[in-house]
Amino acid sequence: MTPNESDHEVRESRLWGGRVSTGPAPALDRLNRSLPFDHRLGPFEIEIDRAWVDELARVGAIAESEARQLQLGLDAVERRLEAGEPACEPDEDIHSLIERWLEEEVGVSASQVRLGRSRNDVVATGGRMWARDYAMRSDLLVAELQDALLQVAENEGGIPFPLYSHMQPAQPTRAANWLLSHFWALDRGRSRLADAVARASELPLGAAAGAGTGIDVDRQRLAVRLGFDTAGPNSLDAVGSRDWAAELLWAWTMIAIDLSRLAEDLVLYSSAEFGLLRFADEWTTGSSLMPQKRNPDGAELARAAGGSMLGLLTGLLSTLKGLPSGYQKDLQEDKRALFAAYDRLAGVLEVLAGTVSSMRLHHDRALASIDASVLASDLAESLAEGGLPFREAHEVVGRLVAKAEDLGVALADLDDEQVRSIEPGLVGSWETRFDREAALQRRGAIGGSSREAVGRQLSEARKRLSERP
Ligand code: ARG
Repeated sequence: MTPNESDHEVRESRLWGGRVSTGPAPALDRLNRSLPFDHRLGPFEIEIDRAWVDELARVGAIAESEARQLQLGLDAVERRLEAGEPACEPDEDIHSLIERWLEEEVGVSASQVRLGRSRNDVVATGGRMWARDYAMRSDLLVAELQDALLQVAENEGGIPFPLYSHMQPAQPTRAANWLLSHFWALDRGRSRLADAVARASELPLGAAAGAGTGIDVDRQRLAVRLGFDTAGPNSLDAVGSRDWAAELLWAWTMIAIDLSRLAEDLVLYSSAEFGLLRFADEWTTGSSLMPQKRNPDGAELARAAGGSMLGLLTGLLSTLKGLPSGYQKDLQEDKRALFAAYDRLAGVLEVLAGTVSSMRLHHDRALASIDASVLASDLAESLAEGGLPFREAHEVVGRLVAKAEDLGVALADLDDEQVRSIEPGLVGSWETRFDREAALQRRGAIGGSSREAVGRQLSEARKRLSERP
C-alpha cells in the first residue's frame, strides 16, 4: 500500500498526523522511512519502553493499572517481533511500528508510552544500546579469530618462517611470531571496542526532544535500569551527539584494516610463488575457466572490507560535520552505517577464523625460503661481535653477497678462495656460519624469535585471551 492509497489509515500509523492535512508525498515518504533498517532496534526499544512505563507509573504520571496493561501489551509486541512478523509499510520507523502494534494490543492508551519523551531521545538510547550489544558480539568474533591464530601458533608455530621487509626476504623468524603479530593487533582492537562501549554508556532517555522531559522522572534510575553508567548531563548533547557511533565505527574499521593486512598475508603466502601455506578446500573457491586454480576469495573479500568500512566511517563523519546542535534527521543515517559495518565485519571475522584454523603451514617451503642470504645480517652481527666495527662488518658481508650473486652461486656455497679474497678471517668457519636455528636462538629478547621468547609470547597471548571477558 502506498501512502496515498489510503491516507486515513496511513495517518493513523504516523506519530505526527495532527499538524498536517495530507500524508507526505510518496517520494518523501520513501526517503524518510527508516523502518527497513531501524527495525533492528526493536528489542532494545521494547526494553526502553518497559523502563519508561515503570518510571511514569512510579512518579504518578500514569496509573499503576495502566502501566500493568502497557507492560502486558509490550510483552505481546515483543513476541510478535520475535516471531518475525513483517515490519513494513505503513510505518515510518520502528517507533511507529511498536506503538501501532501496542495499540492493537491495548487500545488507545498505547500512546501513553511516549508521554514526556520524543523519538529523538528514544532513538539515541536504542542506538547506544544496540552499539553496546553489537560491540560485544563483534568482540566475541574477534576472540574466536584470535583463538584460531593462537592455536596454529601453539601447534606448529615453532617452525622457522621468513620475515619479509619491503617484501624482500629479510631475516629468519618463527611462524608463531608472524601469526601472533596479528593476534596482538586484534587485542588492541578489542581494547578500542571496550573504550567505545564505555563512552557510549551515557543515557539519552529523558532528554526528550532536546530540552529535557517535562515529567519528573529520575534519569539516573533509568540509566541503571537500562545498563548505562550514568544519565547524559546535557539534553541537547544527548539527542544530537553521535560521536559514540563514530567511535565504534572507527574501532570496527581499524579492526577491519588490521584484518586486511592478515588477509593480504594469507593471499600472498598461499600463492604458488610463496607456497608457505595452503587453505583447506572448503575455504577456497575455484575458477570457472582455469581448473588448476584455488582462489583465496574469502581472504580477498576480507582485504576489501577495510576499504568499504572506511567509506562508511568517512560517510558518517562527513554527515556529522557542521550539523547544528540538537537532533536533525541527518542523524538517522548513523544506523545504516553501523548496521552495514557490523554485518561486513562479522562476515569477515567468521571467514578468517575458519580459514586460519584449517590452513596448513608448509614447513619445507618455509625452511627453504630462509636461504643463507637471509642470514646475512646475522653474519655481519657475528663479525661485529668478534670486534670488527659494524659498518665494516656490514660492508664485508655486502661484498660477499654481491660476489655470490655475480658468480651465480648461493652465499653459503662460496669456496675458500672466494671468501678469502674478501675476508680471510672467515675461511675455515664459513659453512658453520649459516645455521638457521642458531640465528633464531640469538633472538632471545622479549618479542623475539628464539624458542624461549616465542614460548613466553605464546603463554602471554593465551593468558590475555582468557582474561578478557
Ligand atoms: N527514525 C529517526 C532516526 O532514526 C527517529 C527519530 C525521529 N525524530 C524526529 N524528530 N523525526 O533518527
